[in-house]
Amino acid sequence: MAAERYRFFQRNPSRPDIAAEVKDGLRSSIKRISPKFFYDERGSRLFEEITRLPEYYLTRTEIDILNAHKHELAEVIGKHCCLLEYGSGSSRKVRILIHALEPRYYVPIDISEKHLQQSAAAIHDDFQKLSVFPTCADYSKTVELPEVIDGVRRCGFFPGSSIGNFERTEAVEFLAAMRLNVGAGGYCIIGFDSRKSPDIVEPAYNDRAGVTAKFNLNLLTHLNRAIGTNFDVSKFRHHAFYDQVRGRIEMHLICQSSHQVQLDGETFTIAKDESVHTENSYKYSLDEVKTVAKAAGMTYVNHWEDDASWFYVVLLQADG
Ligand code: AVI
Repeated sequence: MAAERYRFFQRNPSRPDIAAEVKDGLRSSIKRISPKFFYDERGSRLFEEITRLPEYYLTRTEIDILNAHKHELAEVIGKHCCLLEYGSGSSRKVRILIHALEPRYYVPIDISEKHLQQSAAAIHDDFQKLSVFPTCADYSKTVELPEVIDGVRRCGFFPGSSIGNFERTEAVEFLAAMRLNVGAGGYCIIGFDSRKSPDIVEPAYNDRAGVTAKFNLNLLTHLNRAIGTNFDVSKFRHHAFYDQVRGRIEMHLICQSSHQVQLDGETFTIAKDESVHTENSYKYSLDEVKTVAKAAGMTYVNHWEDDASWFYVVLLQADG
């Protein structure tokens, strides 16, 4: 029988789960909304635009590193595994790995359904020997993987410095979950943005074309549509800065005139100049990378970086 080549798995959070999480964040003394809510169809498209901006060095640097070292990765990891990609987005980077590792299965996991379906379909069309099982899910929670890959050797791929969008303790929890997903001895390839001068980091989140501002504001538009909040997007402005001590970019939406937002009969007042904290983007030293990996039960195997050490592609192996 021919191998099944494509199936879509829906594991996305329900509307009540999203609303409960948003209410929790808006009740907090420092209001916050998780960055995972950036990614509806428009948010995913805006993020793609960000990755091509001159100021946003992360994507092109990581792509160059992957291209330069893909064969070394393949030598260690071996061919014909099942590749699990967390936050697959456009699946641009994974194409490099698919060429080098020749996996049998590819499981892209993403919260943004339409974008996931489009990218997964394109990969399915372009790689005839590959079975593609897109899984629409919030990867910050436990993801139930498609049963069709039971028993297949796995390799996890978490590119783009998306690990930086977790608190450092959450990053350990996430890696520990990834370790369980790949199983003892399984490999994980993770992209980390390095700690570096604010003169390089800050412009990446304050681009001159204003795409990051649109991306940040789109979070409110997305929630208005998805769960029925009534944010007046025109009352908010984008604010991003680098906190060098904590090694993180903070993104906020600053309210410019007092505003009341309703959700499920509850009213949230956002005062003039009050911030809604939408994202942290942590940068890592190599020591910090090794510390989180060890705490998650992973062994550091190797890493590759660009000449300026702006980005690290790290290979970890799950402990038994
Ligand atoms: C997806 N993530 C790694 C991006 C980052 O750099 O933290 C999201 C982003 N936020 C603003 N620009 C890009």
